Amino acid sequence: MTLRDDLALGSRIAAMRAGGLALALRGDPVARLMHKPWRRDPYPTYATVRTPRRVLRSRTGISAVATHELCEQVLRDRRFGVRLADGRAPFAPEEGPSLLEPIDLSLLNLDAPDHTRLRRLAQPTFAPRRLERYREIAETITADLLDRAVARGRFDLVRDLAAPLPITVIARLLAIPEVDTERFTAWGRALGGALDGVRSVAHAHELARTTTEARALFESLVSRRRVDPGEDVVSQLVGALDEGRMTIDELVSLAQLLLVAGFETTTNLVGNAVRAMQTTPGQWEALVAEPGLAAGAVEETLRYDPPVQLTARIAHEDLELDGVPLRCDSGLLVLLAAAGRDPEAHPDPDRFDIAREQTSPHLAFSGGAHYCLGAALARLEGEVALRMLAERLPGLRTVGRTVPKTATVLRGPRRFPVAA
Ligand code: HEM
Repeated sequence: MTLRDDLALGSRIAAMRAGGLALALRGDPVARLMHKPWRRDPYPTYATVRTPRRVLRSRTGISAVATHELCEQVLRDRRFGVRLADGRAPFAPEEGPSLLEPIDLSLLNLDAPDHTRLRRLAQPTFAPRRLERYREIAETITADLLDRAVARGRFDLVRDLAAPLPITVIARLLAIPEVDTERFTAWGRALGGALDGVRSVAHAHELARTTTEARALFESLVSRRRVDPGEDVVSQLVGALDEGRMTIDELVSLAQLLLVAGFETTTNLVGNAVRAMQTTPGQWEALVAEPGLAAGAVEETLRYDPPVQLTARIAHEDLELDGVPLRCDSGLLVLLAAAGRDPEAHPDPDRFDIAREQTSPHLAFSGGAHYCLGAALARLEGEVALRMLAERLPGLRTVGRTVPKTATVLRGPRRFPVAA
């Protein structure tokens, strides 16, 4: 980007920020989700959107749904997509870099038929038979990480367990030879943060650097797998590339999506689960007494405080949703985290209880065409991490201030000091 681009981008960001903040101060719930201080605890805002039990029209120009029923309905409704009705990417300005969709997120940014074609190519990687192999890998990695954490006494739950576990697993899945945990963590933060849009000119530069580095990594993996194929996803996709079923750009952005979707989210799952258990009386003790409750703790966290708080859809025609008219190409936020606290789907929804009998499925992995491809892998990693943590470190306690990530879409702790 040139200096002129920087200045243009900087002033667009400042204008958007100021406009959004003014609306947030006037009480607009959608604007509040994007701004401090409301962003820190978005659950009261979600309740405001959910309580009338209908589509909320926001002065930001983006509507929102927050009940379990409406969120699920929108995710399954084929009148909505993720691109504009004519197939163009949303939010792309006439000129200059885009603020809201700065990176190509492959499947997440595609509608049928491209979405269907690419999803079919990626799906075999996540077949249950393949995933079982990853349980053993996750257990070995977790045991090793916990050995090191126990030896230290005090450690950071995110830096020393919740981040390196999924990073190592996804790196195996993609057969990335040398895993540089710190570099991947920085990539995850830059790319994950981009789901909220570009925060600053510095963030735009960081994103450009990250995508260039990620592209170089995946292009070199493609060349390597061409001559020396293995059982990994990239080898599998190289076959599709050579048969003309996908392009190299599609392969690279799919691999990049798998890398980011595969760890930033699971890191937040483990972080949010431990934080909720540590702050809700009796919950950590319940897991220690019965580590078999780990799978329940994962599901309860996904309902109560999910790593991905919301997603967005675009109306592909003029339509009515629950009696509210929406224009073609208008945007709609689907507040997945708000749906998890809907009292009509989950009795006593603000109570965190790892032994809860889940009465309705949560929407933490979305629904419909974009339902999370890695849901089974995320559940497996979360269950292994929480079970082994309770077995090995029953006296685990929080020993300092937990620092949250400053994001709207992805929610989780950035720093979480604990002692064994
Ligand atoms: C707790 C962890 C995770 C959560 C909460 C999560 C959540 C989500 C959500 C909400 C979506 C759909 C967004 C939308 O509808 O617009 C999604 C899509 C996706 N996720 Fe996950 N995810 C997690 C872990 C993973 C893992 C471990 C992987 C892969 C290794 C993964 C790969 C994907 C992919 C490829 C998509 C795109 C699917 C599509 O658009 O068809 N996710 N995830």
